Formats: sequence, structure tokens, C-alpha cells
Amino acid sequence: MSSLHVTRTLPEDATDAALRADVRDGLTVTPKTLPPKWFYDARGSELFDKITELPEYYPTRAEREILLARAAEIAAASRARTLVELGSGSSEKTRFLLDALTDLHTYVPVDVSESALVQAGQALVEERPDIDVHALIADFTARLTLPDTPGPRLVAFLGGTIGNLLPAERAEFLASVRGLLSPGDALLLGTDLVKDEEVLVRAYDDAAGVTAEFNKNVLAVVNRELGADFDPDAFEHVALWDAGNEWIEMRLRSRTAQTVKIPAVDLAVEFAAGEELRTEVSAKFRKEGISAELAAAGLTLTDWWTDPQNRFALSLSTVREH
Ligand code: SAH
Ligand code: AVI
Repeated sequence: MSSLHVTRTLPEDATDAALRADVRDGLTVTPKTLPPKWFYDARGSELFDKITELPEYYPTRAEREILLARAAEIAAASRARTLVELGSGSSEKTRFLLDALTDLHTYVPVDVSESALVQAGQALVEERPDIDVHALIADFTARLTLPDTPGPRLVAFLGGTIGNLLPAERAEFLASVRGLLSPGDALLLGTDLVKDEEVLVRAYDDAAGVTAEFNKNVLAVVNRELGADFDPDAFEHVALWDAGNEWIEMRLRSRTAQTVKIPAVDLAVEFAAGEELRTEVSAKFRKEGISAELAAAGLTLTDWWTDPQNRFALSLSTVREH
């Protein structure tokens, strides 16, 4: 008999305090920034799922192709009994892994989006009565305490979400993932690859405007949670390629000079006409670069698989032996 456990690792007021701190820190400096994790309330998670179906947004389809082709190899290499997935969202592509991992005992999806976790978790316990689902509402950049379940453990971080962390955050994150692994465990990492600028920018500025709506959703979150009076129509969605950093940046550009009140943090934030607020970076990778970042965290890249068009890569890494 399978079961769904949902564990909230932080009380709701801690999430609120974290949002207040990020808003205070990010909107009182130049250039203004907000961390991308605040996109994902129920509406944001729904909008992200819509993005994955857009003709311009290739990463989800490319990663699905790789998973479909390689799930058996991944399963044979990891022999995982526990699959931990960071930023699991809808767990849609994960089903290929769940089906291939024949000895799997427990699936541990980890996400800040409670709605996405519960929806995915409920569907999975019905589909797969043979596995336990232990969902964790948690920030994957914080120290994670995982349930005590049988090894070997496979930690999956799919979708290219690692690209949404800044380089210093990435180093800290990979070191903490290393801390979750014992010899015999593995990390399965999805990374979007550097490619033609036009293809990249289109993926983040789609014709139907879904990504623009996703981007502006962070303003709706701040309005609802902190009583702010952002007018989403007063901002324009911007997606650009930063060739030096090899990342896409999403920004919100103020159409006019305006002041936004955020009562919960006692702020009146001034925007000049044309001023931009950075809401996300989405770094794109090369094999040498990510392999070096993994090595710096004590991990050894053992397998590297790409889709036939070389748009996206999945890699498997193990704990470095001394
Ligand atoms: N893995 C899925 C979803 C990717 S969208 C896929 O490949 O399609 C990114 C997911 O990460 C969202 O579900 C979002 O809620 C979650 N997320 C973003 N930042 C997070 C954080 N700091 N901690 C935990 N989850 C986070
Ligand atoms: C979740 N993450 C990998 C997405 C990305 O492509 O960076 C989020 C996203 N932002 C805009 N579109 C999709």
C-alpha cells in the first residue's frame, strides 16, 4: 500500500519573512532584483506548466527526449531505492525515471510550490501504488533534512533549474547536494546548453505572451503577500541574452516613472521611467564548465547525454573517491 506524506520544513510565517527580506534587499538597491523562487505560487506553477508546452520553449521537450532514451541506463547506473527530486513541480518527466527504477521504494519530491507538490503527489500515489511518496515543501537552497529511506539515493535536479541560481549560489548549492550523497549515490542534473541567441531569446519571449505573464506574476505575489500596489500593466516583459555571462535575463521594465507602496515592509519604491527589475537569470552551460563546477563540489561527472539536436544535457555524477 503506498501513501502520500507531505512535510512542511518551514512554517508559513518563515516563508513570509524570507519574502519580506528578499523584497527589502532587492528593491532598495540599484539595479533592483528579486529571486526567481517567488514566481511559483499556484498561478505561477500553472503558468510554468503552460510555458513547457509553448512551441518556442524547447528545454522541456529536449530533456524529455533524453529521459525517454536514457531512463534504463540511468536506472542501471544508479539502482536507486530512493529518488529525491529538487524543484519537482508537476513531476511530469519524472515518470520515465519512476518507471525505469525497478527497485524504487520512495520518491521524495521537494518544491516551494505546495500546490504543485500536492497535485503531483496525489496523482502519483494513485498511478504508482507500489511506491511511497514523501513530499517536502522546502527551499532547496536551504539545508535539507531528507526522510530516512533506503539507499542507494538518486538526487535529480531537472529542467535546467540549476541555471536559475547565480554562480556563487550554484557553488554553495552543489556543495550542499554533495552533502546529501553517500558513496554509491548519484546526482542526475539537467542543464540547458549554450546555443544560438535567437533561439534562446524566443524561448523566453514567446509570441503568445505566456512568459511575460509568468514574469509579471511575481508582482502579483508581492501584492498579495505584502499588500503592495504593483500594477503589472505598468511594466514590460524583457528577455535578453548576456553573452559574457552566458545567461538569459528576465527583467520587468517600468513603463513610466512611478512609486510602488509595499506596506508590509514599510517601503515606497521609486522606479524611473525605463528602469528595470531583474527577476531571473537562466544560465546556459557547456560540458567543461558544469563538469568543473561539479568537481569543485566533490562530484565526478560520469555520464553526459544530450538530445539529438544538442540543445540540452542530462548528466550523472557520483561522489568523488579520495
Ligand atoms: N522540474 C520541473 C519544474 C521546473 S520549474 C521541470 O523540469 O519541468 C522550477 C521548479 O522549481 C518550480 O516547481 C518551483 O516551484 C521550484 N523552485 C524554484 N525555486 C525553488 C527553491 N529555491 N526551492 C525549492 N523549489 C524551488
Ligand atoms: C525553471 N527554469 C529552468 C525555467 C528556465 O527556463 O529558466 C524558468 C523559466 N523562466 C522563463 N521561462 C521559464
